[in-house]
Amino acid sequence: MKRVLLIVSGGIAAFKALELIRLLRKAGLSVVCATTENAEQFVTPLSLQALSENKVYGALFSLTDESEMGHIQLSRSADLLVVVPATANILAKMAAGIADDLASTVLLATDKPVLVAPAMNVRMWLHPATQANMKTLAGRGVHIVGPDEGAMACNEFGPGRMAEPPAILAAISALLEPPVRPLLGRHVLVTSGPTHEPIDPVRYIANRSSGRQGHAIAAALVRLGARVTLVSGPVGVPDPAGADVVRVESAREMLDACQAALPADAAVFAAAVADWRVANATDSKIKKQPGAAAPALELVPNPDILATIAAAGPRRPQIVVGFAAETDDLLANAQSKLIRKNADFIVANDVSPETGIMGGTENAVHLIGPNGSEEWPRLAKDAVAQRLAERIAAALGQA
Ligand code: CTP
Repeated sequence: MKRVLLIVSGGIAAFKALELIRLLRKAGLSVVCATTENAEQFVTPLSLQALSENKVYGALFSLTDESEMGHIQLSRSADLLVVVPATANILAKMAAGIADDLASTVLLATDKPVLVAPAMNVRMWLHPATQANMKTLAGRGVHIVGPDEGAMACNEFGPGRMAEPPAILAAISALLEPPVRPLLGRHVLVTSGPTHEPIDPVRYIANRSSGRQGHAIAAALVRLGARVTLVSGPVGVPDPAGADVVRVESAREMLDACQAALPADAAVFAAAVADWRVANATDSKIKKQPGAAAPALELVPNPDILATIAAAGPRRPQIVVGFAAETDDLLANAQSKLIRKNADFIVANDVSPETGIMGGTENAVHLIGPNGSEEWPRLAKDAVAQRLAERIAAALGQA
């Protein structure tokens, strides 16, 4: 069982430490509390003890009493130290290395990771002294959660409100359970979004792809540790943190960018690439001529990026995933796309207008692979992305 040493300092937000202890216990963590003298004005040691089911180390606890747990032992027996709430005062002591009570002594003596949840009046938080202290602490690797912005007990509004217990729990879990990264050292190429095929310098042919699914896949792959190159058409969604984003407009630019990104261990083609481009695109804007007929657009096929990259050869990624957006005969069409394009997996989705999938936030897909097809429940696009990233990691692990 992982152990959290919860240091409660004296601020109005101290009562939230009780709710946090309850959440930590529910999450299966063991909690030991240490308090500053001021904290005891806000929460009683008895309630901390009752909720944590452990002895509380109060401000007057003797640091020299060898029959009890000393400050070194207190920090040694914990996996993580969490200061909730972290007042301006205790943060200043941490930054300066002052050890004048049990809490500050433990914080100075520890070699364990430390998380602080600052809570104070907005002016105290914004004061250059506090800001400089936060910078010092962050520079030393202290983890920080919050503060939030909002109405405060002192009738002011702004940053300084302590993060809510669920957010602190999430920060604690992230620190205690380093994420599993099965794709560490792997490079994955992802395409996303629509392409724009120019008619003239101001007009283009496009489609309704939002890029949400492709971008979510890139983000999920980054979370699993992959180095991700995301080749994206024009989209309104933000870049996924941690991916190398290459922005392109047309299908031919997308193909060039994909080829330049190789070699890759895996590739996911989620872009809605225009199948055709305008053969006679002009370099200058097409003008209306009085009485003249509307211009005729001649279309020629675009290169198939998925089929090109998936074709057998030394630069073929080990795992290639394509998408099939269909309105009819979903499984049969997707199955034939798998073979025709030489993909290892096809994510097939029904994009009939009534599904609301194209441009929406959810997706209902079938995954077609070497062992047949499986139906996934309707999920948020982020959850589809997470599952797919895990499948890619598993397939690469077996390859
Ligand atoms: N794709 C691609 N390059 C293209 C067209 C499609 O890389 N020029 C990829 C898409 O990113 C997707 C898959 O191929 O992963 C399927 O695309 P889709 O448009 O559904 O299939 P098509 O092969 O174009 O067939 P159809 O339009 O007949 O459904």
